[in-house]
Amino acid sequence: MRPPAPRGPLSARLLTLLAEPLRAADGLADLARQSVRVPLVRADEDVQLSLLVCQELDYDGIDGADERWECAAGLLAARRVLEDAFEAELRTETSMLVGEVQDTARHDVAAAIFALTESVPGPPLARHLHRHATRRQLAEFLMLRSVYHLKEADPHTWLVPRLRGAPKAALLAVQIDEYGSGRLERMHAELFADTMRLAGLDPTYGAYVDKVPAATLAVTTAMSMFGRQRRLRGATAGHLAAFEATSSLPNRRYGQAVRRLGLGDAAAAYFDEHVEADAVHEQVATRELCAPLVGAEPDLLADVLFGAAVCLLLDAQAAEAMLGAWRLGRSSLLPAWATPVREAG
Ligand SMILES: [Fe+2]
Ligand SMILES: [Fe+2]
Repeated sequence: MRPPAPRGPLSARLLTLLAEPLRAADGLADLARQSVRVPLVRADEDVQLSLLVCQELDYDGIDGADERWECAAGLLAARRVLEDAFEAELRTETSMLVGEVQDTARHDVAAAIFALTESVPGPPLARHLHRHATRRQLAEFLMLRSVYHLKEADPHTWLVPRLRGAPKAALLAVQIDEYGSGRLERMHAELFADTMRLAGLDPTYGAYVDKVPAATLAVTTAMSMFGRQRRLRGATAGHLAAFEATSSLPNRRYGQAVRRLGLGDAAAAYFDEHVEADAVHEQVATRELCAPLVGAEPDLLADVLFGAAVCLLLDAQAAEAMLGAWRLGRSSLLPAWATPVREAG
């Protein structure tokens, strides 16, 4: 990924370090500790961009950065500070939601996840796109979503080696579809890239990160935070289940939006694919992945629900930010960073 523009002292320091030869990243964790003293970690531009950059070292990497940064102690220490603060905030924010379905979950995990999706319906983003969005708004939606969809399924794939038996088989049944059963042209990330191309957008991985606000970056950084840590395997499974359980109906509307705005059937293929696939995936992820996982490891129940609640909360936050901007007649994208952010100290 091309290095993004910094959004504050922490991302400025981090990106400067990554552009230099590998060395000790002294002080980066201290700067991270100062940076997470904000009202909302999940909505802070500097924190979320910094976290995304740290995590991208696990995926496609950052152009020009020494690949050994991925495992460099100073960088990992800073990442840990950011993820710990993010996780603590998300646990506090979702505790009531999780508490409400805990009793149901003790005898039916899948029913509890579906109940959670009902209690966080999210704003009417899909309805707006279907009926009212302009072509420009559809393009913004694609640019924002591209941060995740161009690496679709990768964050949950970290879970594969952490499972055994039936839950592993269920996860793979979902992931194999996500990767197009090994056919490039059917890979969901490739289908999304096709949609972007047909909408006149740049399908290069990370091309629009500079335009994507923290509210949307947080959707992806939470997934990567869960997926990368074995300790959070329950949350990863729950996140995937909620993600799949809230996908089929909105995708039908997104596909209709693409056709209404004249982009054609080929551009709608990504969304069409998810209408049927995710109606199946939601059943597999809830009943064949999460339920047997909790059956084998009952202590993971709370984290399965936590992961599901986080998926719903952050998705609603991102959708609300998008719709809120459009209601005011504004763009939902970040304006270009007007003045260069200087490195602290
Ligand atoms: Fe998909
Ligand atoms: Fe899916």
